[in-house]
Amino acid sequence: MTSMSQTRQSNKLGKWLYERLGLQGIAYAVPKHANTLPYILGGITFSGFIILIATGIYLAQFYHPHPSEAHNSVVYIVTGVFFGDLVRSVHFWTAQIVTVTVLLHMGRVLVTGSFKRPREVNWFVGLGLLAVTLVFVFTGSVLKFDQEGLEALQHNIEGAEFLGALGAWFSAEFSRSVPLLTRLFNTHITILPLMFGLLIAAHVFLIKQHGISPKVSSDAKTRATSGEGDSNFSLHLRRMAGFGLLIFAVATGLSLIFPAPLGQAGVAGAEVTKPWWMFVWLFPAEEIWGVRGLVAVPALLGILLALVPILDRSPYLSPQCRKWLLIGSAVVLAVIIASGIYAELQPVTGHLE
Ligand code: HEM
Repeated sequence: MTSMSQTRQSNKLGKWLYERLGLQGIAYAVPKHANTLPYILGGITFSGFIILIATGIYLAQFYHPHPSEAHNSVVYIVTGVFFGDLVRSVHFWTAQIVTVTVLLHMGRVLVTGSFKRPREVNWFVGLGLLAVTLVFVFTGSVLKFDQEGLEALQHNIEGAEFLGALGAWFSAEFSRSVPLLTRLFNTHITILPLMFGLLIAAHVFLIKQHGISPKVSSDAKTRATSGEGDSNFSLHLRRMAGFGLLIFAVATGLSLIFPAPLGQAGVAGAEVTKPWWMFVWLFPAEEIWGVRGLVAVPALLGILLALVPILDRSPYLSPQCRKWLLIGSAVVLAVIIASGIYAELQPVTGHLE
């Protein structure tokens, strides 16, 4: 086939798909700023999730979620499965990239005041997505069931015991027929993806209803701009896909240089590792308040984030008009970063009761 007839064929296929899938519906107008990097960070996060789902499905074919088999099955993935080490490492690195992009996305929404009326509910849906992302990371870090994974599980059990009836579902005793590790695996591959699907559907629906928030200027007020603008949504989708490919390339590059680590099978009761950077900043809270700190500090942060649209209700978007909220947020962020640095510098000491 000549290249001209090939182009004609692909044009035909494009037209066919365009008509059958109603793709003209996604080329609606959006403001130009909606297609700039700060306003695509949510979309980039979504692209990262697609990579996580694809690599996760592959890993689930070989992972065995029973405590006696789990670590061995990960060793098998790394050493015996076709491209297993690479796929596992891409999953590992993409999870970290997605955690960074979701935090940046939340930071952008906070700084540009995009959580204000009429978008408050979408801020709460976003908080649900953040919680789901962090529980994904936590349960994922347990699954490999090396020393670090086992210690994470022990902290999970401690937290559940502290919460009493509220934490019953997270405790080992909740089910006598299915080990806690297996239930965390179920959480990782069924409950969380389902929750993610429902929340992201609500998130996207609300974004479509309200339109992207207006561009920040000294007098900009937060009102719907749906269906207006001098750019279009299909460009937004193309950029999301482009960034998705970039995440994949970066995660693959990192995986080739630094494959995902796997420690020795865990020894119960020992405490010789530190958690991932997403959780290590909780270390000082645990040192001071024990397991209470591990439960209370994230709960307090969640409450503070939930209060944001309640505390900052003025119609103005400009950071100059919202100094107190932004200074307060910067202080909280600085404390978290300082705790993280302190925790990284500390030797590991046992503090499980
Ligand atoms: C897995 C996590 C998340 C995904 C995949 C996601 C996805 C998206 C997408 C695609 C957008 C469109 C604009 C953009 O890309 O910036 C958006 C907007 C928005 N997101 Fe998220 N999001 C997530 C988490 C969050 C979190 C943690 C919050 C805040 C607590 C949040 C609050 C919002 C709000 C308020 C908007 C509307 C912004 C505007 O109109 O300017 N999202 N999100």
